[in-house]
Amino acid sequence: MFDIKDFLTQNPDIKDLLNTNEGEIADPYADSIIAGKNSYAYDAHTYHTKVPPQGIETLIKYYTKENDVVLDPFCGSGMTGLAAIRQKRNVILSDLSPAAVFIAKNFTTSFSAKEYREAIKEVLERLAELEKQLYLTQCEKCNELAIQNYTVWSYGLTCDKCDKEFILWDVARDEKPSYKESKILSTFNCPHCHGLIKKGKLKRTRLYPVQIGYKCCDKGLKDTVHQPKEYDFKKLQEIDKIKIDKWYPTNKFPIGVNTNQPINHGLDSVDKLYTHRALLALSEIWHACINHDNLEIRPLLLWTFTSLYQRVSVLSEFRFWGGSSNTANYNVPQIMNEQNVFRTFKRKSETIAYHLEETRKNSILRHISVRSATHLDHIPDKSLDYIFTDPPFGSNINYSEMNFLWESWLQAFTNNKNEAIVNKIQEKTIEDYQTLMTDSFKEMRRVLKDNSWLTIVFHNSSGKIWDSIREALYNAGFFISKAQIFDKQHGTFKMYVSDNAVGYDLILHCQKDILIKNSSVVISSVEEFVKEKIKQSDYTLNFIHVERTPETDFRKLYSEWIAHQIISNNINLSFDNFRNIVSKIIQHVKTQDSISL
Ligand SMILES: C[S@@+](CC[C@H](N)C(=O)[O-])C[C@H]1O[C@@H](n2cnc3c(N)ncnc32)[C@H](O)[C@@H]1O
Ligand SMILES: [Zn+2]
Ligand SMILES: [Zn+2]
Repeated sequence: MFDIKDFLTQNPDIKDLLNTNEGEIADPYADSIIAGKNSYAYDAHTYHTKVPPQGIETLIKYYTKENDVVLDPFCGSGMTGLAAIRQKRNVILSDLSPAAVFIAKNFTTSFSAKEYREAIKEVLERLAELEKQLYLTQCEKCNELAIQNYTVWSYGLTCDKCDKEFILWDVARDEKPSYKESKILSTFNCPHCHGLIKKGKLKRTRLYPVQIGYKCCDKGLKDTVHQPKEYDFKKLQEIDKIKIDKWYPTNKFPIGVNTNQPINHGLDSVDKLYTHRALLALSEIWHACINHDNLEIRPLLLWTFTSLYQRVSVLSEFRFWGGSSNTANYNVPQIMNEQNVFRTFKRKSETIAYHLEETRKNSILRHISVRSATHLDHIPDKSLDYIFTDPPFGSNINYSEMNFLWESWLQAFTNNKNEAIVNKIQEKTIEDYQTLMTDSFKEMRRVLKDNSWLTIVFHNSSGKIWDSIREALYNAGFFISKAQIFDKQHGTFKMYVSDNAVGYDLILHCQKDILIKNSSVVISSVEEFVKEKIKQSDYTLNFIHVERTPETDFRKLYSEWIAHQIISNNINLSFDNFRNIVSKIIQHVKTQDSISL
């Protein structure tokens, strides 16, 4: 069988990547950095807070020459590696998480797209009978059998007034012709006692299948849907009786900030995140991939599997506009979308095949290993030409918890002792976080050539985290030469619908303090700063997926304000306080405008 631990540790000799060139770039990158998220490379495999590689490429090109060596010690999915390959630079990546290293290694592999497509086809053909066994339904329009794309499941809830059960989907679904206006109501009347109830507070009973979607005789764009019928219920009963004879992980979730969500719903081990049907399909696909005849392609096949992440689990929340998505938490939705695992696997493989076509083969060397950024023992002093990295930001994402799902399939787990996050369960405070970040920056300073640059991507809505990063950099012997906004063009889904999402990423360009020059930064008040900004450009935010009136993009303003302040000042102002101040300023400016009209 394919040995994942071997795969994770195979690397060239690090000395072969290094050179003796001197850094020559005197000034920080001057232009704005824009990088769209929609590329095959970006979409091929999901990861939390991915940085689009085009943006990194711009910087690598500016700060280094061909055959130089670039480091990212918090590499995540390895976007820095992808950018380096495209620019023909050698690259050293590392991350505390084996899942990240697995993803990054595959992201930076070049392989024939044709051979890959054939292997996927073969895997799926071998499992075609199983797909029928698991996913056939009877078309409501022509009575023929069709393979379903998905089944929607809804929890039954118990009314807190009359104690009777109802199915949330039946009662709270407010479906309109346009998906934009459709929603699941959060407050509604109990169908039994008619009392006004809130869905969030109610006790869950069990999941019920409520809708099946498929393509059959109707050639329209939309899936045909029907409520599960006798045929479907019988099928589900039969499926539940099938014994799973291939391996799948049964690891218990460790107690954690995010893992407590599924644990509280009784989903206390990884296998419980899947329906029996999905687990059957997944265990067969995993088996086919890990035992594929062509040894070389096994990692890429398994990577196609890991790219599914939460999409095929019970964490995949139903949305009226379709699809399924991944999140950086383990929230168990009340209404979920159970995807046909085979079809999702196939769809993901198509994106990966395009990505393989796009990623040119060239002779760069890459060294990718599991380790903490606080201990870069494998790299000699003053040997690297550039560092680009995107470290964890405070308590935003608990990587070791969120990677547990992947790592259970890989059977290789993060040692979270040095995980640089703020986390109650790990008993890590903001001070601990700052210490871990300081130690990491010290290591980066040690391995970086004296004239070379460190660029950090960062975002957080708490002024305290900004201050601790600034302190950590300073204490490690770096100074921030320039700070700017990283415009990813498209916000993430979360940004469009949620109020407490963090805003734009910031890019800090740093050098060793031995090179410090006198900077003349103008210090201004929030008021002066914001008035100047809104005079210069438009900060209106429009919403794509939801019906919502445009509003001021406070996050962009806040990010720009931090970029302005961080070079020389304490931030000491949270996003919420900033928003309050800015709202007042804008209101004030508007009233003045209307008076002067
Ligand atoms: C913001 S993510 C990087 C995402 C990456 N830029 C991408 O595009 O996929 C931060 C990463 O830091 C890792 N990490 C946390 N503590 C670490 C440590 N002490 N040493 C190395 N990596 C660590 C996490 O596992 C996570 O993958
Ligand atoms: Zn009731
Ligand atoms: Zn039909």
